[in-house]
Amino acid sequence: MTASPSIAAPRSAAPPPATPVGVGRFPTVRPRRLRSSEPMRQLVRETTLDAGDFIYPLFVAEGAATDRPVGAMPGVTQWTLRSLPAEVESIAALGIPGVILFGLPAEKDAVGSGAWASEGIIQQATRAIKRAVPELLVIADLCLCEYTSHGHCGVLRDGQVANDETLPLLAQTAVSQAEAGADIIAPSDMMDGRVGAIRGALDAAGLSAVPILSYAAKYASAFYGPFREAAQSAPQFGDRRSYQMDPGNAREALREVEQDLAEGADMIMVKPALAYLDIIARVRAATTVPLAAYNVSGEYAMVKAAAANGWIDERRLTLELLTGIKRAGADVIISYHAKDVCGWLCARVERHNDPVGASDGW
Ligand code: PBG
Repeated sequence: MTASPSIAAPRSAAPPPATPVGVGRFPTVRPRRLRSSEPMRQLVRETTLDAGDFIYPLFVAEGAATDRPVGAMPGVTQWTLRSLPAEVESIAALGIPGVILFGLPAEKDAVGSGAWASEGIIQQATRAIKRAVPELLVIADLCLCEYTSHGHCGVLRDGQVANDETLPLLAQTAVSQAEAGADIIAPSDMMDGRVGAIRGALDAAGLSAVPILSYAAKYASAFYGPFREAAQSAPQFGDRRSYQMDPGNAREALREVEQDLAEGADMIMVKPALAYLDIIARVRAATTVPLAAYNVSGEYAMVKAAAANGWIDERRLTLELLTGIKRAGADVIISYHAKDVCGWLCARVERHNDPVGASDGW
């Protein structure tokens, strides 16, 4: 056994660490003093959730006779155009500022032409939402995978997704979505150069006021499984690893973000959220633009499955996860839990005048 060199080293070798203001030692210092009651904890809480932080994802199916529940995502529904107005009214009533829309077209083809059709499902749904609740923000997810017969996010050339040939189709789709009334365009395809192509097309169409929320760091993730059932967008062969990011990479996320900002992205996104909190924190530290995190379908499905088995306290666990996403640095949280959470937050506000201790914080 040898003595630890750090213990043996003379103390004068390095300057003593600066003592931060307010730091002292036990027993003078007792952090538990500030955890003694819920009002005390509330006073010193660094991160709190607000309904205004959330975006709720909506699936809208073209030509469907009835609303259909999504098996792996309890509480999530594929809506018909007919039911959409009532659904968005209840979302807005919870104080949620916006929705992100995914369309299920009645027909698909090799290039995904349903994505930019003026009577496409997203375009019709956007108009229906704007008629029902004009102030609710409509974010149009922009990707071809729900519209292509092969389920990939771009057009194919020799069995590969062809990047540059896909760009004009994305640009055309963005213009069509914005013309239908979408407030924000959110490209999720992961083609190189798409933000620039979309910005150019929007500007040329007189839509320079429409912002772009880029899925800048979108990983090739197994957490998207339930979404592909909900959006009927699973690739028919292969996977998305030649265009979505490798889960092992963090520096590359910063490179993607830098690129998208240079091309004109107004907001950026990290996706998924929970296995990528380090990426959220690093992107937050490296940029000043608003940052969104997508709490994706598989993350939601795991919570719901555990809750259905009685293994966890769904409300506390959900609030803890979403607080973690915000604490990591997300300004905006896209989550299938948004309606539940905002319902719980509203209930807490109503309990505000209850005797101290009635609220458990979460
Ligand atoms: C479309 C898209 C996907 C998600 C959002 N937009 C699926 C995918 O890339 O395969 C996933 C969202 C979720 O899992 O909740 N490309």
